[in-house]
Amino acid sequence: MSQQNLESLDVGAIREEFPILQREFNGEQLVYLDNAATTQTPDSVVDAMSDYYREFNANVHRGIHHLSQEASVAYEEAHDRVAEFIGASGGREEVIFTKNTTEAENLVAYSWGLNELGPGDEIVLTEMEHHASLVTWQQIGKRTGADVKYIRVTEDGRLDMDHARECITDDTAMLSAVHVSNTLGTVNPVSELVDIAHDHDALAFIDGAQAVPNRPVDVEAIDADFYAFSGHKMSGPTGIGALYGKRDLLEEMQPYLYGGGMIRKVTFEDSTWDDLPWKFEPGTPQIAEAVGLVAAIDWLEEIGMERIQAHEEEIARYAYDRLTAEPDVEVYGPEPGPERGGLVGFNLESVHAHDLASIMNDHAVAIRAGDHCTQPLHDKLGVAASARASFYVYNTKEEVDKLVDAIDDARQLFA
Ligand SMILES: Cc1ncc(COP(=O)(O)O)c(C=O)c1O
Repeated sequence: MSQQNLESLDVGAIREEFPILQREFNGEQLVYLDNAATTQTPDSVVDAMSDYYREFNANVHRGIHHLSQEASVAYEEAHDRVAEFIGASGGREEVIFTKNTTEAENLVAYSWGLNELGPGDEIVLTEMEHHASLVTWQQIGKRTGADVKYIRVTEDGRLDMDHARECITDDTAMLSAVHVSNTLGTVNPVSELVDIAHDHDALAFIDGAQAVPNRPVDVEAIDADFYAFSGHKMSGPTGIGALYGKRDLLEEMQPYLYGGGMIRKVTFEDSTWDDLPWKFEPGTPQIAEAVGLVAAIDWLEEIGMERIQAHEEEIARYAYDRLTAEPDVEVYGPEPGPERGGLVGFNLESVHAHDLASIMNDHAVAIRAGDHCTQPLHDKLGVAASARASFYVYNTKEEVDKLVDAIDDARQLFA
């Protein structure tokens, strides 16, 4: 990405599409740096959803009347749009709408894992997995007798790829790895991990919750068997996420939730299932949210995923440099560059992360403090909690300066 292209990203104009960013608290303008938890939603997404409710709200599954037809087409086509966005050439059959990334993990764990795994099988995770993946596969391991192994994280917050090659063996049935760590910011070499898994005839699930929002993702280039992400982390609505799966695998898998809308034929004795992806989408789905997700994808693509990535990397680099310049701040994860995404996890010596976040909040700076759903990783780091500033396309370096100023304030208060 050239500097010129970077400069052409008009953050001021982008911010105008987010009225929420104009809010003030205690007389100070909101600095929203909690994007890894949830991003803000531009007007175009809110408008698309309200147009749906105003103009064509109806249940889907192709009712006879006009409104149901329109809602059905919008909902079905949303699958195609998501498929196109993530490079799934199989189209809608390979995209299942879920509530979020967590539900996508559970879908595969229950639908595939419970049926396919048993004693002697291994599930390989990384030490930097989010609980969405870690807890889910841990429980499936307990229920099936499969062992769970963890690929080590190095001192500098990267995956130990030699250890990955040791961990993944012919007994491995499933590798589940996070694409971008929500705690360390590490961008993992997912294609390489998938290749290692495939060399041992294992399947690979990639958690893309922190990747799809801010970089171009091509699930076929990665060759992931499954790939998941959430709408609310990519300027879309809450309540919708997506699971990509290779068609032949999804065809073979049993549904995980049952009910209306996913069946072909039901008798008192038995039932058969509808085609993909409907087989995995029982009940009334997230119709307005699917419409909103399409609007979010349109909005992101209009800016360009490369530019979004470049912007985030630049802000993250600036934050990393400013924070590492503070002698009493410990920053986690790799140095800025292609192996770090747009977030910075850190701790200020002698101030608990929760106190720090609270002082930041006094200055209207919104960050997250806690274990970020990676408790075992925090145990490994030797801390109970960390503070995390995470950036998106609307953040500026001036906002990072406010974050650092608030750290000064915290230091003085606790001195
Ligand atoms: C890496 C990663 N995976 C999974 C999740 C879970 O996402 P959701 O809460 O949308 O299911 C998150 C959320 O923070 C995440 O950062």
